[in-house]
Amino acid sequence: MSSGNAFNDAWGDPQNQKQAPIDMAELRHYRQGRGAPAATLDSATLQARRLTLTWSDSRTGQFPLMWLRDHCACDQCRHPMTRERLYKLLDDPLWERFASDDALESFEFDAHSLTLAWRDGHVSRFDAGWLYQRCPGQELATLLPTATPWAETFTPDHIVHADFVGEGDGRSRWVRALLRDGLVMLDQGPCELEEVSRIAESIGPMRSTNFGGRFDVRSVPNPNNAAYTAIGLELHTDLPNWRQPPDIQLLYCLENDAEGGESSFADGFAVAEILRAENPDAFRVLSETLIDFRFQDDGHDIAVREPVIDLDEAGRPREIRFNNWIRDTLSLSADQIEAWYDAYRAFWQILRRPEQRVELTLEPGQMVAFDNRRVLHGRNAFDPNTGKRHLQGTYLDLDMLQSHLRVLSR
Ligand SMILES: [Fe+2]
Repeated sequence: MSSGNAFNDAWGDPQNQKQAPIDMAELRHYRQGRGAPAATLDSATLQARRLTLTWSDSRTGQFPLMWLRDHCACDQCRHPMTRERLYKLLDDPLWERFASDDALESFEFDAHSLTLAWRDGHVSRFDAGWLYQRCPGQELATLLPTATPWAETFTPDHIVHADFVGEGDGRSRWVRALLRDGLVMLDQGPCELEEVSRIAESIGPMRSTNFGGRFDVRSVPNPNNAAYTAIGLELHTDLPNWRQPPDIQLLYCLENDAEGGESSFADGFAVAEILRAENPDAFRVLSETLIDFRFQDDGHDIAVREPVIDLDEAGRPREIRFNNWIRDTLSLSADQIEAWYDAYRAFWQILRRPEQRVELTLEPGQMVAFDNRRVLHGRNAFDPNTGKRHLQGTYLDLDMLQSHLRVLSR
């Protein structure tokens, strides 16, 4: 077994520093100087089937040999075109030997790389910055902003359409605001049919529902949905009757000169937290009780049983389902029914507080985007006899929005 330190001394020679960069089959920056860690590799020691690595900023981490073998990025272990894993640990004849130091023939390192020679002749090379980012026990820094509840003074960010479609950072500012606040405005766009589809498709495929891939919001004869009437719409989330409701909604305004029709929004996560603080029993009832949501028309009967407030493992709100039109029969025991109605009214009362709402009048050429599983939306009634009101909308998956930001960050 070669000593790591002996190699370090040899590779520390400036003559040997100009090495070809190691391709880790990874599109996110991991090399020094490209938004990746600046720390260099200081030491590597092998003990008890793990390599302990230390970087110049004192970060240290233990890398099990089996992990290192599994993450080899050579052309045989990672497909050079798809970057997907080819290595199959179940078929590795060395696998049993990873339980001791015996699987490794030798290793060497310098400031920027680590090279492992395995007993079967395979050689794995790692970029030190890539290992730094993925050091076991350290969370890989996320490129995504965390969702931040609205304060009472919250106003959404506005991005100008020309900046969104231009070369600058307008697009990533728009995505960041949407991920952080769950609501963002796009201003001064063209009043063109399907502009909302072009914007959506520049991010990902439109998420289709029983209302199609792209929908028009205006009053129509014989509507199958309250949105297609002129009546006011209480704050709600769309399609809570789906197992996975649409994540992101885009609403693009083409005409809005009818009287009324102002839009309103509320942060469902913030409202849920207020309910938890003011009325813990109501919060518990809405987060623990599954109720039925359902939409029915001639061709559909889409139903699901879920809570109004869905919590994650840490007890934080993860999703709000609130849509009074498509709440189905409340199918609970008599005791539960009374407690649930009380809790539902308490949540709804907080939603109606003016300080919880952002109100705005959409202008032609303006688009609002919001996280439909967090932010509730509604509108005032409008008078279709005083002018036209026409919005075009579609949905996007959150995965596509997050993907878009990661790609923009490259
Ligand atoms: Fe809606």
